[in-house]
Amino acid sequence: MSGPIAEVLVGREELAARVDELAEQISRDYEGEELVLVGVLKGAVFFMADLARRLTVPCTLDFMAVSSYGSSTDSSGVVRILKDLDTEIEGRHVLIVEDIIDSGLTLSYLLKNLRTRRPASLEVCALLTKPARRRTHITCKYTGFEMPNKFVVGYGLDFAERYRTLDYIAVLTPDAAAGIPGEQSSLL
Ligand code: IMP
Ligand code: MG
Repeated sequence: MSGPIAEVLVGREELAARVDELAEQISRDYEGEELVLVGVLKGAVFFMADLARRLTVPCTLDFMAVSSYGSSTDSSGVVRILKDLDTEIEGRHVLIVEDIIDSGLTLSYLLKNLRTRRPASLEVCALLTKPARRRTHITCKYTGFEMPNKFVVGYGLDFAERYRTLDYIAVLTPDAAAGIPGEQSSLL
């Protein structure tokens, strides 16, 4: 394969099928309730849009933006809220929607923060998880796919803000991951 993609780990159809399954499971678990989906910007946007449209329970959408101090590929665990929720979540059923749980430090902070607002329930739905990288214990009720210990892009996930719009999950070539423009970089 030429261009910036070294390997496709999850293809478009496989993604869609798994999102369907997760939506079914969540709709069953929250039957009769109303959900607040809290998306973590920006990585969760594509996943959340697809998931939300497949839910059969009523839901509202809200977003948080956080930045973690550290390098672009490593989380430090020190998290700053750049954009907070627009809505109150006290007494409501909240589901955090994340693109990927890596060290788990970002999510651990978010869970602690949202718990202080006294939601009726608080759970996590992550499209991807990298268990080998975990540095803290996290209970994630809904998970799409387990990833190897590799940096992945696509379907919302970025490398330096690029590759989010790919409709599959992939690993970059060493050149692309080093930021060296390839022959297909103009596609992105
Ligand atoms: P954590 O705090 O280490 O769990 O980091 C979580 C955040 O880091 C995710 O929400 C992503 O934005 C980013 N991240 C972690 N691993 C990857 C990856 O393989 N590709 C793209 N972004 C990643
Ligand atoms: Mg990111």
